[in-house]
Amino acid sequence: MKNRIEQLRKELATHNHKYYVENAPEISDGEFDRLMRELADLEAAHPEWDDPTSPTRRVGSDLSRGFVTVAHRWPMLSLGNTYSVEEVADFCRRVEVEGGEVEYVCELKFDGTAISLTYENGVLVRAVTRGDGVSGDDVTDNVRTIRSVPLRLSEEGWPAAFEIRGEIVMPFAAFERLNAEREEADEVPFANPRNAAAGSLKLQASAEVARRGLDSFLYGITGDGLPFATHAESLDAARGWGFRVSERSRVCRSLDEIRDYIAETDVARRSLPYATDGVVIKVNSYALQRRLGATSKSPRWAVAYKFAAESAMTRLLSVDFSVGRTGAVTPVANLEPVQLAGTTVRRASMHNADQIALLDLRVGDAVWVEKGGEIIPKITGVEMSERPAGSVPLEFPLCCPACGAVLVRDEGEAKHFCPNRAGCPPQIVGRIAHFVSRRAMDIEGLGEETIALLVAEGLVSTPADLYVLSVGQLAPLPRLGEKSAENIVDGVGASREVPFPRVLFALGIRFVGETTAKHLAAHFRSMEALMAASEEELAAVEEVGEKVAASIREYFDSQENFAVVGRLREAGVRFEATERVAASDVLAGRHIVISGSFAIHSRDELKEMIEAHGGRNQAAVAANTDFLLAGERIGLAKLAKANKLGVKIIDEAQFLEMVGGSGGASGSENLTNSDKNDNNHKQASLF
Ligand code: IVH
Repeated sequence: MKNRIEQLRKELATHNHKYYVENAPEISDGEFDRLMRELADLEAAHPEWDDPTSPTRRVGSDLSRGFVTVAHRWPMLSLGNTYSVEEVADFCRRVEVEGGEVEYVCELKFDGTAISLTYENGVLVRAVTRGDGVSGDDVTDNVRTIRSVPLRLSEEGWPAAFEIRGEIVMPFAAFERLNAEREEADEVPFANPRNAAAGSLKLQASAEVARRGLDSFLYGITGDGLPFATHAESLDAARGWGFRVSERSRVCRSLDEIRDYIAETDVARRSLPYATDGVVIKVNSYALQRRLGATSKSPRWAVAYKFAAESAMTRLLSVDFSVGRTGAVTPVANLEPVQLAGTTVRRASMHNADQIALLDLRVGDAVWVEKGGEIIPKITGVEMSERPAGSVPLEFPLCCPACGAVLVRDEGEAKHFCPNRAGCPPQIVGRIAHFVSRRAMDIEGLGEETIALLVAEGLVSTPADLYVLSVGQLAPLPRLGEKSAENIVDGVGASREVPFPRVLFALGIRFVGETTAKHLAAHFRSMEALMAASEEELAAVEEVGEKVAASIREYFDSQENFAVVGRLREAGVRFEATERVAASDVLAGRHIVISGSFAIHSRDELKEMIEAHGGRNQAAVAANTDFLLAGERIGLAKLAKANKLGVKIIDEAQFLEMVGGSGGASGSENLTNSDKNDNNHKQASLF
């Protein structure tokens, strides 16, 4: 049995490397999953043969813990920056005074977050962030989930103990997927892949890290008595041991060669699947590196050449003023299409009226747009010499561009708002879109376009209207048809089961996010009690301050809202907390299927606990199922499907441990708080 475990671990590690590092898989995903499942089962049956480097550890765990600070054995320095070839030439001159004819290694400067990995006897034992350069956070569990980081080294010849440093990056594709999910869930998207990579490494639940698609590039070995004479040799060796080392490093023997490398890279990087922000030029010889030494901040044997923030000049054609769900009006520039950082830019963000005034933007202006890694490019300046004669300052509209109501701008607010909550179409659509969103009522089949159509057709104007829609009304509409219409009506019907805290969140009361909604539900336990509460009573609730209390009162004091809430009650939406509501996010966004019977709790109790901790009960195992909570006499079909899809199977004890033992609020404190900043767990597939 032990042999089989070891054999599986070895085989899976090899396939993992072939898939994630070499991009040349030899077996199908299904076969890989089958082997992984076999190993997981054997390991579960034989905990005595546990091994932290087992490929099954790549899945991460759901248990949260704070990060331990670890001192770096060798400080993690940063690099001196240069912005021109002349400055690089200065660097080379300084180096060559010491070293004569010098060989350099030019590499990509990856735009991610730095990591230091320690290997002992060929096994990954620690992964630490840069931190302040002297000490960083131990993020080993999270880094273990990154497929291109070897848990155990291949080949031989590695030093018994060494550190290897590199960058954790989030490829553009993973970044875009993550941000799309965050936007769908009404969460603030990450500004760039660097922030996303750094934020992901600091997540508490490593299972969530596992599904974020992080990648690694290693670029430097540190240690005592390393068996290499040059940096280039060490990179080749590291590649051989299984690390992902960029193939784009190149030995250069003169400034001209360095200049060519920079020029080539500045073009090539535009089609790379991950972000780079420059080139790093390093002295190749370790002996010379040692002679050159370092300042307190950076080595004297390396320098970074930073690419200029990409900017382009184009024309400002017009400005759209778009209205969001809350009525906030945001100006967006329409530009003459221009190529920038590999994409065609047509629109740019202009933030608010102050920003427009600051830049004195005018339609027809030649403007500079810049993409500093942010998703939407921004206008950074106006080329005054090109300003057309007779242009006039851009005025913020006085009236709402969607409904014509006079806009208001409160004291101290940067934004203008449209006050016509009940009659302004984009606000209506935005509110309904929020109501049906995944973390609120979770009604599928109702994207913004469909909602806009329903609003335009006069079929809905408030979320309550959804509950009286019929298949007959929906089916004839463009792009819908019988099947979609049925799905929508079914989805709306099923949402009557959504627990009270999520209903409260779905209302879209300003400042009432998911966590506040849970606290309010736990405290008042019914919509009726909540609606009757005074501002003081509201402000006394955990996480509800005066501002939030005032906003809740304002919401219920509005006749319109009062009417909508009344109709939702009539529609049968849950207005009472039936379960012991625990304000915990530990299962936020997780889809869980329950099957079988259980020793401690009834199935209904378990279902309530799932909801109470932010999870979602699912009837059948599907691709997005995170856990199958398996009891005795579990349905075999469910089990087989879960195995096939690699869904993690947990028992009652494991579940109770996840939610903090009791299923109530107690004990889950750590998990809740730690995930507060980033609880976008949608799915945590096992492998
Ligand atoms: S070498 C002592 N090589 O840039 C120098 N750094 O500004 C150690 N970086 O903290 C760094 N790509 O996070 C090196 N090929 C590369 C790099 C690289 C990205 C980052 C690294 C470092 C920062 C310094």
